[in-house]
Amino acid sequence: MLLFVANWKMNLTRREAAEYVRDLSSRIGPARPAAELSIAPPFTAFDAARDPSERWSLTAQNVASEHSGPFTGEVSARMLAEAGCRFVIVGHSERRRLFGERPETLARKLARAREEGLIPIYCLGETAEERAAGETAATLARQVESLRQDPSSTPLVVAYEPVWAIGTGHAATPEDAAAARQHLLRLLGGRQNLRILYGGSVAPENAPALLEFSGMDGFLIGGASLNPAAFAAIAGVGRP
Ligand code: PGA
Repeated sequence: MLLFVANWKMNLTRREAAEYVRDLSSRIGPARPAAELSIAPPFTAFDAARDPSERWSLTAQNVASEHSGPFTGEVSARMLAEAGCRFVIVGHSERRRLFGERPETLARKLARAREEGLIPIYCLGETAEERAAGETAATLARQVESLRQDPSSTPLVVAYEPVWAIGTGHAATPEDAAAARQHLLRLLGGRQNLRILYGGSVAPENAPALLEFSGMDGFLIGGASLNPAAFAAIAGVGRP
């Protein structure tokens, strides 16, 4: 099933989240949508973003690399599982770049997620410099290494998010996304139950062509997902 994840990043208070949920809920209607939807709110808005009717699940934007203890400001996988999360984003380029998350840390986060039955949405993608140097394939191969210890029989979501496309308004072309997908399938060939998403400036205007011609299993959506109408349109659910 196609998967569409709304990554709110550091946006929407509890009150704003509740308004969003009211809007999205009325757009979708009472029935389960044809695509799988998930919302990744800030931790403070988990309760406000939750859907009692389970038309969408909750995704955590981050998880601690340790189990518990003196790690001020961190939230553990066990806490996220108890809060009802289904997925957790690991390795988003903002975490790698702005918070210095290293491959070893990401491997530990993946392990913590697995211990609690959370499905990782593991993000990877090349920078503009790497792309210009023809190093896209090598970058993806290097980033996939963090999954080496991850059990290959468990469901996994990988999000191809070229850094140059995130928040820039310049999405990858369907051809570029398709090429990255083929490369990732080769790198992760042995995995069962793998879904590959595209992320980076997905909008209602470019989503249909990206989905049709890239072969992707859905999208990880940032900016556009802050608007419930745009999120529903991208996911192709509910009334316009
Ligand atoms: P964007 O962000 O859709 O705003 O480009 C995507 C992401 O960072 O997951």
